[in-house]
Amino acid sequence: MDSDTKERKILVTQALPYANSSLHLGHILEAVQTDIWVRFNNLNGNECLFFCADDTHGTPVMLKAKELGIEPEVLIKDVHKDHMDTYKLYNINFTNYHTTHSEENKKYAEMIYNKAKVNNLITKKTIKQLFDNKESMFLSDRFVKGTCPKCKEEEQYGDGCSKCGATYDVNEIINPVSSLSGTIPVLKDSEHIFFNLPKQIDVLKEFLKKSDLQKPIVNKLSEWVNDDLQQWDISRDAPYFGFKIPDEKDKYFYVWLDAPIGYLASINNWATSNNKKMDELWSKDSNYEIYHFIGKDIAYFHGLFWPALLDSADLKLPDGIYVHGFLTINGEKMSKSKGIGIWAREFAELSNPELLRYYFAAKLNDKVEDIDLNLEDYVTRINSDLVGKYCNIASRSSSFIKKNNNELSQNIDHELVDKITSIKDLVISHYNSRNYSKAVRAVMDAADEVNKYINDKTPWKKDLVESVEIASTALFAFKVLSIYLSPIIPNITKDAFEFLNTDKNSLKDLNTPLEKTINNYTPLLNRLEPIELKKDKPMNEDNNIDIKHFAEVDLRVARIIEASNVEGADKLLKLNLDVGDLGKRQVFAGIKKAYSPEDLKDKLVILVSNLEPRQMKFGISEGMVLASSDDEGIYLISPDSGAKPGLRVK
Ligand code: 2FM
Ligand code: ZN
Repeated sequence: MDSDTKERKILVTQALPYANSSLHLGHILEAVQTDIWVRFNNLNGNECLFFCADDTHGTPVMLKAKELGIEPEVLIKDVHKDHMDTYKLYNINFTNYHTTHSEENKKYAEMIYNKAKVNNLITKKTIKQLFDNKESMFLSDRFVKGTCPKCKEEEQYGDGCSKCGATYDVNEIINPVSSLSGTIPVLKDSEHIFFNLPKQIDVLKEFLKKSDLQKPIVNKLSEWVNDDLQQWDISRDAPYFGFKIPDEKDKYFYVWLDAPIGYLASINNWATSNNKKMDELWSKDSNYEIYHFIGKDIAYFHGLFWPALLDSADLKLPDGIYVHGFLTINGEKMSKSKGIGIWAREFAELSNPELLRYYFAAKLNDKVEDIDLNLEDYVTRINSDLVGKYCNIASRSSSFIKKNNNELSQNIDHELVDKITSIKDLVISHYNSRNYSKAVRAVMDAADEVNKYINDKTPWKKDLVESVEIASTALFAFKVLSIYLSPIIPNITKDAFEFLNTDKNSLKDLNTPLEKTINNYTPLLNRLEPIELKKDKPMNEDNNIDIKHFAEVDLRVARIIEASNVEGADKLLKLNLDVGDLGKRQVFAGIKKAYSPEDLKDKLVILVSNLEPRQMKFGISEGMVLASSDDEGIYLISPDSGAKPGLRVK
């Protein structure tokens, strides 16, 4: 049966990236895997909608905001823009990209929690929690680092192990250390709120039987269901960046409670502005299928907690969860500390992002295997497949058509075209099962056929009429190949369709003849030169920068006219600065621990004067004064006396 006669309605999500840093290529691997599937489904006549959002709550964001000395709200706003811009570079075509720090998410989190309460799935227990005496606060998950209690890997966060994938309670971690103060935390009583996961065991068993999950994932989840189901701690003590739990004092929803709910929130946000009913999209009776694309490290949350919560809220459970492995780079695990890994924006400057989409597709399958980005192999693969096989058809054929005033022949050799269209169902089935590597292989084998056809027919030895017939046949086949490849390389194929002067580019159009004329050919792609990464370049902001970047930072001498306390802020002082010809500036600085306002009057400091002004809780901060700090103190950087306010620091 021709699969494109089926009209399916599908909601797709990818995991929500944390709003604590920029995207790295691991994020892009997942986005590309998901985006290709979404684009393929739409191409194949289904309605497929793609939702995502930033995962904004909890300790990862709190820690980063603290490190930057800004409010979490400011951080998540900046990161939201950064994430959206970066995904755009890779042509990830979201239907909607929202945030978990939203009204919709709050509404759904409260609704789902209240339903669980009504269903007697919420309990309370006093537990021992790690407490940082120095910072006077309970330490949840990422505020604690230590050794994984399951596999004994060191330097793991308190909520889960990046090596063995286990999730555990923060106080199970061995040799805990507070990431806030570096001190060893103590255990202290705290009442926490739990979701009674074991009570949902039958729901989970049914879910594991019915939904579309990869075998190893079913095995792992079944192991957890059968051995080891625990009540799930869904509360965190204040201070916490997230949603307050209704009717509780100083308790917040744990980030992993409201993160997947962010899927619903993103859909709801889109539904509202597009006149759609949520009930028709995601409800027990809706006609939409639901699929989540995620990495293997978060299968526990999506395969157990999430369906258990959805069931209790009387919402539809996902029809499938598609899990991929991690990305390695030149064979090594990505690691910020070791400097192995590449920021997505950085890679987009090294190489056309569209080509990475192709490379990932050429390696992706339906398994939970890790995928390696080997840069040498990357260049070879792009040059051999996309430049040498696919684009080559267009470039060599176009020269013959050009001699005919860009007019195609209607006398097409259908034997070749039929050969190329006959792989349609195979390609569809590979895309559908996420075996993109097989789809790519089938399409490249077909491209080989077309090149062989041109070689065998030797159009360069033929008269104009015959050479134009051969080239027109090859370009017809090229159109078919472009349609097949369009979910993977949408930009390049868009250019190809423009060159071919056609907008008939869905899977239904494989056999539609081209127009009479085509456009002039400009190369769709050039050969890639070898790509080199700077060795040992760490994945953080301490990278070496060149002088040009340094020169962009406008450092100025400034005089503190007045310093004052800020009500409600225990770390900040407000500084009014005289910056000479730049006028007066107001800056909030996290130096209260070390300086009294009255001691700062007339002190000279160094101001980063061209920092984007930041809206903080207490007002706008127009720059940053330089200081160094360690556990013992904060030290403002001052020029020698005599330096005039406004003077440039070079
Ligand atoms: O692991 C992560 O990066 C999480 N931010 C993924 C959340 S996915 C969904 F549940 F929101
Ligand atoms: Zn482990």
